[in-house]
Amino acid sequence: STRLGIIAAMPQELQAFLQAMPDEHLQRIGGREVWVGHWRGHEVVAALSGIGKVAASITATLLIARFGVGRLLFTGVAGGIGPGVAVGDIVVATELLQHDMDASPLFPRHELPGRGISRIATSPALTHALQQAAQHTLGVTQGQRVHTGLIVSGDRFVSSRAEVQALQAELPDALAVEMEGAAIAQVCLDFGVPFGVVRSISDRADDDAHVDFLQFVAEVASPHAVAMVDSV
Ligand code: ADE
Repeated sequence: STRLGIIAAMPQELQAFLQAMPDEHLQRIGGREVWVGHWRGHEVVAALSGIGKVAASITATLLIARFGVGRLLFTGVAGGIGPGVAVGDIVVATELLQHDMDASPLFPRHELPGRGISRIATSPALTHALQQAAQHTLGVTQGQRVHTGLIVSGDRFVSSRAEVQALQAELPDALAVEMEGAAIAQVCLDFGVPFGVVRSISDRADDDAHVDFLQFVAEVASPHAVAMVDSV
């Protein structure tokens, strides 16, 4: 099977996975940390991208072009913006969109110039596996849900009610907002690499978002990542 890439933005999001990866070998490239090793018989390349679309794009490109990954997972946390998407829930992406892409009036709002689309679909197989893993992960906890659908990305930590309302108004089916997913989606589209994105909801992207985020990222996101990689 093809080598699996796994990327997270922040160390807390990948820590438990790296601790469980038995034979990882650290390499540094472009200011990034990349771990090459194995996970349950798969060849795995894990990397921290740093935060934001550019950082994520560089990392995804490196893993594909330099480390030869043929499948890619992005894991981490996100702000919940869909109705009923609560802190502690998991969102598995079926599509990703860059909510801050706007080359209008040359191209329609959100459209990727030259591509003719604004939404990029994830791999159905990886997405199905992530959904199963998410259900399983939440199986022990009460009241938490798995959502599947649109995740939007932009170079902005969303932290006010007004911003959330603006996103909801223009993208009513968006479930969660984060800062990397749609960027790696574009890289994977260009290289023809199947990918999946899974996010644990750390906050509601409102005025308390920064407080909830910091607490959650350490406690919950990291163990979740292990379960997700287990699934594929
Ligand atoms: N990642 C986690 N929470 C977020 C938020 N509120 N905005 C953007 N990215 C996030």
